Amino acid sequence: MKIFLDTANLESIKKYNDMGLVDGITTNPSLLAKEKGNPAEIMREIVRMVNGPVSLEVVGTTAETMLEEAYRLKKYGKNVVVKIPMIAEGLKAVKKLKADGIETNVTLVFSANQAILAAKAGASYVSPFIGRLDDNGQDGMNLIREIVQIFKNYQFETNVLVASVRHPMHVVDAGKIGAHVVTLPADILGKMISHPLTDKGLSAFLSDWEKVKKENPNLVI
Ligand code: G3P
Repeated sequence: MKIFLDTANLESIKKYNDMGLVDGITTNPSLLAKEKGNPAEIMREIVRMVNGPVSLEVVGTTAETMLEEAYRLKKYGKNVVVKIPMIAEGLKAVKKLKADGIETNVTLVFSANQAILAAKAGASYVSPFIGRLDDNGQDGMNLIREIVQIFKNYQFETNVLVASVRHPMHVVDAGKIGAHVVTLPADILGKMISHPLTDKGLSAFLSDWEKVKKENPNLVI
């Protein structure tokens, strides 16, 4: 299972990159809007920092404008994956980008039908937004189950990228289903690291070691 960070925050990316936890990055216009600075420069910096796919999203809504943006974004680095919204014009753009050898991530996917069509158009990734489905009273994880099953049935090469993740159990469930990638806000990755029993256990080890040191004042390990 690959873990991507769903952020445009350079500090978070550096923090988790230094732990070797970042297989890739996904960004979107809303995530960039949260950051201070020039969004184009931020995107370039992310592409430089990360040794893995970085999804950068177009904001055009016609195939023509999406393609113009896609070719410009692709110049930011070889690891750029162009993020395209799941609309009819988007599928046209995906087909052309596939023919040009440019990877795409079809975003704002809310149904298995949309995922099938994105895969047929040639998307490298589809991004179902599971948290937003849960918020809407639907079962987001069930959508992941359906898409993974359908893609397996037909050996589609498109990766299922679980997006709009809200808590660590989403990651466990996505892994059990066999989704290829989960993209996480930084705070959820932080929650995955910690466990209260780890902290309690470490504190007991360290306090026992203090007793050992008292009995062996010159001890170095
Ligand atoms: O990549 C975007 C997706 O993960 C959105 O998440 O939390 O805005 O629903 P959210």
